[in-house]
Parts: sequence; structure tokens; C-alpha cells
Amino acid sequence: MLSRGILRAAINGARHSGAARAAPFPAVSGKAQCASSTISIDGRRCISMYGYTQAKALVYSKYGEPKDVLNLHKHSISAPHGTQVNLRLLAAPMNPADVNQIQGVYPSKPPFETSLGTVEPSAVGGNEGAFEVISTGAGVKNLSKGDWVIMKRTGLGTWRTHAQLDESQLIRIENKEGLTPLQIGTVSVNPVTAYRMIRDFCDWDWMRAGEEWMIQNGANSGVGRAAIQLGREWGIKTLNVVRQRKTPEETEALKQELKELGATVVVTEEEMLTGSFRDMVKEVTRQGREPIRLALNCVGGKNATALAKTLSPDSHMVTYGAMSKQPVALPSGLLIFKNLVFDGFWVSRWGDKNPQLKENTIKDVLQLIRTGRFKDIPVDNVEWNWKSEGPQLAENVQGTLGGYRSGKGVFTFTGGDE
Ligand SMILES: NC(=O)c1ccc[n+]([C@@H]2O[C@H](COP(=O)([O-])OP(=O)(O)OC[C@H]3O[C@@H](n4cnc5c(N)ncnc54)[C@H](OP(=O)(O)O)[C@@H]3O)[C@@H](O)[C@H]2O)c1
Repeated sequence: MLSRGILRAAINGARHSGAARAAPFPAVSGKAQCASSTISIDGRRCISMYGYTQAKALVYSKYGEPKDVLNLHKHSISAPHGTQVNLRLLAAPMNPADVNQIQGVYPSKPPFETSLGTVEPSAVGGNEGAFEVISTGAGVKNLSKGDWVIMKRTGLGTWRTHAQLDESQLIRIENKEGLTPLQIGTVSVNPVTAYRMIRDFCDWDWMRAGEEWMIQNGANSGVGRAAIQLGREWGIKTLNVVRQRKTPEETEALKQELKELGATVVVTEEEMLTGSFRDMVKEVTRQGREPIRLALNCVGGKNATALAKTLSPDSHMVTYGAMSKQPVALPSGLLIFKNLVFDGFWVSRWGDKNPQLKENTIKDVLQLIRTGRFKDIPVDNVEWNWKSEGPQLAENVQGTLGGYRSGKGVFTFTGGDE
């Protein structure tokens, strides 16, 4: 178990964009399982007679709704040269930011390029995922066939059956034993976001483990579930706000599920917005003797205001999402009399500035997963094989922002490679 001390030590211890170059092989769009110039082995592998790997990628060449702008593009990838590495997708999630990026409303916009042989300059969707190394160029030093890797940075495009990247763009997963593609493919965005927000914005009193609190909305999200488990691990109590379900039984089941992950208290947004919430907070925090020192906000609007009002003087609220699309409005008194500090966090920019710390954070979370102390998020698995059609895959992406989902959409590639 990682003690607060060990984690504190870990904390203190703290390019290259490019899609795969398309091979000089005609890029074709089509539904056929393998191109006529390729051999299908066992219906799994598609290898061209010239040694090219056949690949498909979900690309977009203009901004809009995923169902309208995503296309499945078929192309070929050459054998890797120098420090290049050829990869096969294992699992890649569909996160809210991925959809915002395709809609053109996200601040980071991958460049539209023709490197995959698309007719229009395009970008590949997706920002995180687990890949398996299928071949390496002669100059590759630290990766071998069979290794599992993730991309160092967001914005490189992960919704693709195969990719060719430079070794320098990849993080090798050391000791993949005991880990699944889902766990590795979803570790670099949400758990890292939760981890850094809890660690970097609040000077926790490590002598008071179990006597300090954080509050968060969107507690059922991937980030929220990670925050609950990290809080439990680090002795920070959590007050968690979720949206009410259709029936009281469903709401209770959700509360129970989060409590099993380690949530101290779970309330609905509706409960938080009633007059009695203040008294309830006083009661659980022993009349404020156990301070609420951090709020994590991914919703905005009234919900965020209510969150801020629970904070003890000199505390921080970190905003990292805006699921309700409502602005954050704050009573001036919270700034003047309570000296609250309002921050924002964006893991993409943080990760680009702190690559080594990001890698260390990922390692810490993977260690918690290996030892069974960090549970998987609920998943809506979307199998992607050679027969998968573009519109069907795009429809799954479209559902990402729907809310009240039973699990996060995750592409799992079950086709073969070579
Ligand atoms: N800033 C960063 O670096 C960073 C990094 C990662 C994620 N994020 C943001 O964090 C948020 C959660 O991402 P995720 O991948 O963890 O989410 P997720 O697992 O895909 O779940 C989405 C969450 O959003 C909630 N939600 C959806 N619509 C809502 C609304 N109108 N009002 C309140 N809640 C709503 C859902 O609540 P229900 O369960 O009730 O449907 C669910 O808990 C997103 O805003 C995402 O963009 C930011």
C-alpha cells in the first residue's frame, strides 16, 4: 500500500506529433475485409504482398458531430524504419473531450494532415489507448515485439487499428502482468487528472489522515471514481455529488457502488441544492472540525456554486470540466471572507510540461491497479474488427456525451495484425 509519505516522495521527485506515414501504397476506402493485393490468414491478419500492414482509422476532415464527420479510412503502413514502431490497437476509450475535439470546441486541435493518404487533410480521433508493439525498426532501443505501450502525449489519434509512431512518442508499460488493455488504455487521462488535482492544489496535513475532506461533483465519472479511490488510499474523506437516477432504487444502487469504491458520503445534486445540505455537511464534518479543503468541479452552474460554499477558509476549488455547459458563478464573499482560491486544470497541457512526472503518476496508478486497490471503470465495450463499419463505430462515439450511461465506451480491437 502506498503510504502518504511514499506518495509525497513520489510527488516531490518531479515530440513530435505525427501520424503514421502512409506507405507508398494506394489508400483506399472500402468495406472489404482485406484489399485484393493482401493475404488474409485465418481471417485475422491482413498482410500485403509487399509487407505493408493494413490499417483502418476513424478520421475527420472537418468539425461537426461525430456521426456526421467521422469516416473509417483504410490505408497501409510500411515496415518500420530506424526508430519507428508499428502498433496494433488493444483498447481505446471515448472520452467527452474526444467528442468536443471533433466538434471543434476543444482548445487542442490535432492538425489535419494527408499522411495517411486521405483525400482531404484529416485527423485521427481519440486521445488515449493501449497498443501492442507488432514490429520495430532497427534503431529502436527500448521496445520489442509484444510490449504494451501508451502514447506520451494526447492529440496523436488512438481510434485506429494500427499506427506507426516513433519510439520517442511512446511509454512502455513495464511489467504488464496483472494488467488488462482496458486498464492501461484508460490510465493516462482520467486517473492522472484526479491524482494531480488532489496532490497539486492542496497542502494536505499528513498528520491528519482521515480528518480532512474533499468534495466533488460528477463523482460517477471516470475522473470522479479515480478521485474517490485515491482519496481512500491517501486518507482523504470524500463528499461525492452525483445526478439522481430515474428511480430511488437506482440512485441508491449508484450511491452504494461509489461507497464500495471508498466514497465516504454520496449525495445527489438535488439533495445538495436543498436547505438541509448545510446541516448535513456540518454533521459529517464534525461541525467543521474536519475541514473540506478541496473541491473538484467538472459540472459548473449552481452545482459548482454549492460545492464552493462547503469549503473551509483558504481552500481550493479546481475546475476541470463543464458538463452542464453552465458558467461558474461565485458569491464574492467566498473570495473576500474565506479567501478561497479557484483554479483550473488541464491534463494535456500539464502532461506536456511534466512528461516525467506524468509517467511516474501513471506508474503509481498502475501499481494500485495491480494490487487490486484501484477498480476498473464500468465499460460499454465496442468491439472493432475488420468487418466493423464506419457509421456503426461513429454512432458509438456520438453517444459519449449522452449522460446516464452504464459505462464508458471503449473500442477494443479484435482483428489481427502483422
Ligand atoms: N481538464 C482535464 O484535464 C480533464 C481530464 C479528464 C476529464 N476531464 C473532464 O472531466 C469530465 C468527466 O470526464 P470523464 O471522462 O471522467 O467522464 P465520463 O466517465 O465519460 O462520465 C461523464 C460524466 O459526466 C456527467 N454528466 C454528463 N452530463 C452532465 C450534466 N449535464 N450535468 C452534470 N453531470 C453530467 C455524467 O454523469 P451521470 O453519471 O449522471 O451521467 C458522468 O458522471 C468531463 O467534463 C471531461 O471533459 C477533464
